[in-house]
Amino acid sequence: MRIGVVPGDGTGPEVVAEALKVLDRAARRFDLTLDYEHFDIGGEQYLRTGAVLPDGVLDSLAKVDAIMFGAIGHPEVVPGVLERGIILRLRREFDQYINLRPVKLYPGVTGPLAGKDHRDIDFVVVRENTEGLYVGAGGFTHRGTSHEVAIEESVNTRFGVERTIRFAFELASQRQRRHITFCGKTNVLVHSHDLWMRVFEEVGADYENVERAYANVDAVCAWMVQSPERFDVVVTDNMFGDIITDLGAAIQGGLGVAAGANLNPEGVSMFEPIGGTAPDVAGAGKINPLAAIGAAGMLLTYNGRPEAGAAIEAAVAEVAGSLPSLAAGEMGMQTSEVGDRVGELISQ
Ligand code: IPM
Ligand code: MN
Repeated sequence: MRIGVVPGDGTGPEVVAEALKVLDRAARRFDLTLDYEHFDIGGEQYLRTGAVLPDGVLDSLAKVDAIMFGAIGHPEVVPGVLERGIILRLRREFDQYINLRPVKLYPGVTGPLAGKDHRDIDFVVVRENTEGLYVGAGGFTHRGTSHEVAIEESVNTRFGVERTIRFAFELASQRQRRHITFCGKTNVLVHSHDLWMRVFEEVGADYENVERAYANVDAVCAWMVQSPERFDVVVTDNMFGDIITDLGAAIQGGLGVAAGANLNPEGVSMFEPIGGTAPDVAGAGKINPLAAIGAAGMLLTYNGRPEAGAAIEAAVAEVAGSLPSLAAGEMGMQTSEVGDRVGELISQ
C-alpha cells in the first residue's frame, strides 16, 4: 500500500509521526507492506515558496492509495488561503465526497457531559464534503462601500446529495441500531433542504430495515448535549457537518481523539485528525496523537484492511481510557509516549 503523507503545519508533524509509528506496528502484525511518500505542503512551505500547492503534488498524490494528513494552517497567512487552496482543493480534486466523522466516547474517558458514558455516545456523522456553502460561489458588489452586497451561495446537486445519503444509509444498514437522522433546516432552507429531504425519503425507501428520523440542526445541537444516545448515523450537508462535528469532538472528550476520513470510495481518500494545527502547543510534545492514530486506523479499514484498522481502534480506545485527560498537556505523558503505548498494544 502506498501512503502519501502530508504532515503539514503546527502539531501536524508530531501527530503524524505517531500515526506512522503505529501503522508500522500494524504492518508487522498484519503482514502489510506500507510505503510512504512525504509531501511538503502547508503554511510554512507557502511562505517559503509562494506556491500554495507546489507543482506536481496533485499528480503525485493521485498515484497513492491513501493520504495521511496532519494539519494545515499558519498564523501569518490570511485565513482562507491555505484552507481553500489546500484542504478544500484536495477534497474536491480527489472527489472525496464523504467526510466521515465517528463520535465515540471511549470507556473510561470522562467527557464533559454529566451522566453520559460510552453507551450513550456512539454515533457517526456523514458530512457531504464537496458542495454546499463550501464551493465558493457568490461574490461582492460595491465591496468596501456602504452599500456593498456579499452573496454566498449554497450549491446542492441531486448527484452529490444522493451519493452522500446513499452512503449514509448503507452505513446505517450495517450498524447494529440501523437508525439514521437527516440533520437539516427544512423550515428555512426551503430549496436546498427540500431537495435533501426528498432524496432522503427516496433513498430511504430502498432501506426498509433502517429507521429514519429528521431533526433541525439547532435541535441536533441541543440533543447532542442532552441526549446523544438518540443518534446512530447522522447525515448532513457540508456546513452543518462542519459545525456539529466539532461539537461531536467536544462530547467525545475533545479534539485529541477526534478522527475523520475524507472518502472517495472509488478513489484516493484522505485521513486526518480533525483538530487543526494547535500552534500554541506545537513542537512541545504535548499534543494528543490519538486522533491522528485513529485516522490511521480508518485509513487501513477503508483500504481493505479492516482487521488491522479495528486493532488500531481498539488500542486507541484502551489508551484513551487510561489517560487522566485527552487534552494537550494534560495526558500525564508526552505525545511520543502515547504513540509508544498504542504501538505496544498492537504488537502484543
Ligand atoms: C474541518 C475544518 C475545515 C472545514 C477548514 C479548515 C476548511 O474545519 O475539516 O472541519 O471547514 O471543513
Ligand atoms: Mn471544522
